Amino acid sequence: MLRWGILGTARINRRLIPAFRVATRSELVAVASRTRARADAYAAEWQIPRAFEGYQALLDDPAIDAVYLSLPNSLHVPWTLAAVAAGKHVLCEKPMALLAADIDRIHTAATAAKVVVEEGFMYRHEPLTTKVLELVHGGALGTVRAIVSGFTFSLTDATNPRLDPALGGGSLWDVGCYPVTYARLLTGRDPKMVFGSAQWHASGVDEEFMGMLRFPGGTTATIYSGFRAALRTWLEVIGSDGSLTVPNPFKPGIRETLTLERDGRIEAIAVAGSPELFVRQVEHFAASVLDGAPSVVTHADSRYAAATMSALLDSARGATALYPE
Ligand SMILES: NC(=O)c1ccc[n+]([C@@H]2O[C@H](COP(=O)([O-])OP(=O)(O)OC[C@H]3O[C@@H](n4cnc5c(N)ncnc54)[C@H](OP(=O)(O)O)[C@@H]3O)[C@@H](O)[C@H]2O)c1
Repeated sequence: MLRWGILGTARINRRLIPAFRVATRSELVAVASRTRARADAYAAEWQIPRAFEGYQALLDDPAIDAVYLSLPNSLHVPWTLAAVAAGKHVLCEKPMALLAADIDRIHTAATAAKVVVEEGFMYRHEPLTTKVLELVHGGALGTVRAIVSGFTFSLTDATNPRLDPALGGGSLWDVGCYPVTYARLLTGRDPKMVFGSAQWHASGVDEEFMGMLRFPGGTTATIYSGFRAALRTWLEVIGSDGSLTVPNPFKPGIRETLTLERDGRIEAIAVAGSPELFVRQVEHFAASVLDGAPSVVTHADSRYAAATMSALLDSARGATALYPE
């Protein structure tokens, strides 16, 4: 069994806690909060056996093997490195880092400590993604020429860390990371250049982001993220011989229908999803720790994500749009 502790009392934990309970070979044993009162109240509410005041106290406990890290984005790197230094395996929420160099630091530290550190892109573990990649890489669309994808939702809480630049806020880091990472999965390549344009919030974070990634051979990905439009996610892949429309690409439902259009014919492809999202991610992480299974989201993937989004933001700020660094 892998004994898990959670750092912080984030909203997203509500989705992970049921997953830890359903997942085989995982056991949720502890939570830590910045305050004693919140740690105790949270542990009672969610029936978590142990509560810690302060994240380091949880990391110092030898009865915990792995941590789930769902703190605001700018705290991902320091607490991942602290967890690794304490000998813990880490499942860190996206984005794991805001700089590619920080992924390198995490990689070096995790390799030396012989622990698993993986970025939490849940969609990577879901059957819908497997099916999309099987179709695209199997040549169902011919050569991929264009990818159009995005993720928006309406953010109304002015105190949310997503609007705070010091906490790694901004729509690109928060939800733009999904289309940006999916584009590289589909093309199997790093982009050669990126272009970005943002609508800035008064705090300095991007509230809306439009980006273009140009891949070797001329394939483009047009990505969109934002906090001002209604909740919506989309992905279309257009190839030389056909196109594929993917519903709910980043949080697949229990049953989704892909639309494959070729030679004027439309084919509906049903894909069964997971009864409980995040379970596959937790179970695969446990397999990586307990059996040595290779991570689904590699450090190279995480490095690409950090480097590409940094370059997109640089472009939007008017700096160089050249890629790679
Ligand atoms: N994979 C997904 O589908 C998904 C979905 C949503 C979010 N996420 C990711 O999960 C992470 C958390 O997002 P969330 O919206 O769930 O977080 P949230 O509700 O804002 O909670 C963040 C937690 O971090 C702790 N914290 C420590 N320092 C803080 C500070 N200065 N300001 C605010 N909170 C602080 C707090 O816990 P204590 O006070 O108890 O210590 C707080 O409960 C983000 O990295 C986000 O990108 C992933």
